[in-house]
Amino acid sequence: MCGIIAYIGSRRVTPVLLNGLRHLEYRGYDSAGIAVLDGEQLQLYREVGPVAGLDRAVPKDLGGNVGIAHTRWATHGGVTRANAHPHLDSTGRIAVVHNGIIENATELRARLEREGVEFRSETDTEVIPHLIRTFYDGRPLEALRDALRLVSGTYGVAVLFADHPDQFFVARNGSPLVIGLGEGETLVGSDPQAIVSFTRRVIFLNDGEVANITREGVVTSLLDGAIFAPAVEQLDEDWIVEDKGDFEHFMLKEIFEQSQSIHRCMRGRLVASEGNAKLGGLDLSPRDLLYYKRVEILACGTSYHAGLVGAMAIERLAHVPAAAHVASEFRYRNPVIGPDSLYFAVSQSGETADTLGAVSEVQVKGGEVFGIVNVVGSSIARTCGRGTYVHSGPELAVASTKAFTSQVSALLLFSLLMARTRHLSPHDGKAFLDALLRIPRQVESYLQDPGPLDEVASIVSRARYTLFLGRGFNYPVSLEGALKLKEVAYLPCEAYPAGEMKHGPIAMMEEGTPVVVIVQDDSVKDKTISNVRECQARGARIIAIHTQGDHEAAACGDISIAVPRTLEYLTPLLTVLPLQLLTYKAGVLLGRDIDRPRNLAKSVTVE
Ligand code: M6R
Repeated sequence: MCGIIAYIGSRRVTPVLLNGLRHLEYRGYDSAGIAVLDGEQLQLYREVGPVAGLDRAVPKDLGGNVGIAHTRWATHGGVTRANAHPHLDSTGRIAVVHNGIIENATELRARLEREGVEFRSETDTEVIPHLIRTFYDGRPLEALRDALRLVSGTYGVAVLFADHPDQFFVARNGSPLVIGLGEGETLVGSDPQAIVSFTRRVIFLNDGEVANITREGVVTSLLDGAIFAPAVEQLDEDWIVEDKGDFEHFMLKEIFEQSQSIHRCMRGRLVASEGNAKLGGLDLSPRDLLYYKRVEILACGTSYHAGLVGAMAIERLAHVPAAAHVASEFRYRNPVIGPDSLYFAVSQSGETADTLGAVSEVQVKGGEVFGIVNVVGSSIARTCGRGTYVHSGPELAVASTKAFTSQVSALLLFSLLMARTRHLSPHDGKAFLDALLRIPRQVESYLQDPGPLDEVASIVSRARYTLFLGRGFNYPVSLEGALKLKEVAYLPCEAYPAGEMKHGPIAMMEEGTPVVVIVQDDSVKDKTISNVRECQARGARIIAIHTQGDHEAAACGDISIAVPRTLEYLTPLLTVLPLQLLTYKAGVLLGRDIDRPRNLAKSVTVE
């Protein structure tokens, strides 16, 4: 979604901003722009389409050492140059970039129009520079605060005043901003990715905070004017983004990174001698763990699918009732928050607005939520306070892959921890850990020889419709397979619990309909095979993802793909791999924009 980068220092600002925008491209956007102060001259450039287009439009000799820039993912108003950020006040001397949504924009716009302001865009953002102008009497910070007090909704804003070329201003409410402190230069990004190549010393701004940024540093204050000393943190070196290396796309690189990322998620968290796990960030003693009678997992998209696997593992292994909830539904259904329920918010980006909303709903009702998050210092991680980082490393392809397997790994570790405080013996705990420890090697070995996926990709990419089926632990994996195929290859498909398929989707079966079924050598294998037969009888072409060496399951597929054998609980870590690769191959075959599929954003910071 929208991205912000702003800079003040001694470097020429344009290359810094354009470089920052390139690092934000992975979030998804449809237009981009910059505003630069060359002396007191405010220069504005905006373009629809990729940052490369903006780069071509900006004069190569543009001077100035301070500026703000933005990538826009359209919400209010179409994808046009006029709607791209930065937006200016009517004198053209105040420039604003904004992430988030101003909920009372219609009302504010009507009021400003009555006062004679002429709007040049359809955006909600444009009310901000005009409002600032109405309060501006030469004191920029005061005008910004006065304007923001009238605004309701979410914002991360950066504001440039042509009258004050030695500083700029930022403010946050619900949309993240991180300030990077360099030597004689200061940057602000909506995401650490944009600034980490300059500095790892950062301040994460909190909601309701405003900062006055100069090249020497920062003065932070609250909307009411109270100044405070912010915490300065050091960004983890994981944030330093490498390039695609030998891979053609980040998605493929990230699929292939999974043996390392799963290993990183487990590193230091296994207690082999006790057949147990430790998750220090949760800070829960065995007594605390015993207290909880339910576990509820809140998430969206791929993270929700990981949550479904986690809930099943917690219930099966620890015998504690558990469920996963789509965060956007949970937050608005006035949920009952049980005092003895433990809540997890699962999120790769840590910025998903719906998940954040669900966290607030639990907290408002006195519940405690723990984060299972990838991005260190992100809003969900900070709002939860306690939790577990999954340490996938930066995931830059919009389609999530390695975050899924890391989230599942973290939830499996938690299931083990919970189970060991209850009935699970050290012996069984060790067997679970041993199997988990083998997973990274098994991921690697599968990826070296993934089976006839080119053939499957070619079938699926020509099909009118594809059905994904799974049962038990692999029903969420089939959901994930279908989500991936829609996101990246834009192919019509859906996922169903294999047993539920006969209650509707079976009507879709015709001669040659591809059905991708995950049929593992597990407690639901026989039932799954029966469901496969029901599809086959209606002409479906079966692609079976089966356990290596299981000839019966292999034989039920017209095409069979073997994944290494593991415990039933852990199968999602392996069965998801062919589905990720299938999507990748189908997307390539169809010429899709693999890393930045249409209409999608990497972190969905609006509802
Ligand atoms: O950053 P999050 O994990 O909270 O994001 C949740 C979803 O938006 C995300 O998983 C989305 O479904 C991805 N595009 C999946 O590939």
